[in-house]
Amino acid sequence: MNTGMDKDFHSAVPTHIAIIMDGNGRWALSRGLPRLAGHRAGTENLRRVIEACAEFGIKYLTIYAFSTENWGRPLEEVQGLLRILEDVIDRELQELHDQGVQLRHIGRLDGLKPALRKKVLEAIEFTKHNTRLILNVAFNYGGRDEIVCAIQRLIKDGVAAEEITDALVSQYLFTAGVPDPDLIIRTSGELRGSNFLIWQGAYSEWYFTPTYWPDFDKEELSRALEEFRQRERRYGRVSQSL
Ligand code: FPP
Repeated sequence: MNTGMDKDFHSAVPTHIAIIMDGNGRWALSRGLPRLAGHRAGTENLRRVIEACAEFGIKYLTIYAFSTENWGRPLEEVQGLLRILEDVIDRELQELHDQGVQLRHIGRLDGLKPALRKKVLEAIEFTKHNTRLILNVAFNYGGRDEIVCAIQRLIKDGVAAEEITDALVSQYLFTAGVPDPDLIIRTSGELRGSNFLIWQGAYSEWYFTPTYWPDFDKEELSRALEEFRQRERRYGRVSQSL
């Protein structure tokens, strides 16, 4: 597990930011629009936030786009979110590539239709040499599901109980090789983790804002980064000022 223990108590810029992009539905409802219009506006905003993250020197951005629980939403909304994933790949991939973004996926691809699965895998392949920003898209992702999946694979690989360590479990997660998130942002005023990066977020700093995701702009991101700079990360140790 990479807890960042080797880092200073205060970090200037987070290496890895993860975002729960919440509030699309309420953003749409407050404008008398259908919920899907909120998800579309959220997707537009995502493009701006990706660019801002790259500008600010963040190396990893993980976004919660579709949880394992989101299948329980109305069919129209589920289909709309699947279409958004497809549209993003069809329309935005070249631009993401030109910006130096490497696309990755976390979650279970086997829950998606073969054509969409193929499209995601091709997009990952197409951008695999980019290094400016690694964008992890959590789609059909659940933190508990990820841990269950890791345990199943550890057992299948015949790993003995006494060989299991923090570091080894991390290597079996969807995020293998990715440093743990330094900062997790949740928009829309909800104060929950919602099954997102529950292992990796053990020592993450959290930033909550009432702003709905489509309105979470570069200034808000700067504010979150400024607050992160003020935080003292102790990783269970005592304060440096004591
Ligand atoms: C939560 O808001 C948001 C989601 C479940 C979907 C987030 C997806 C995007 C922003 C699109 C980007 C997608 C891809 C594939 C890149 P909510 O609908 O729960 O909002 P509410 O709580 O106000 O109803």
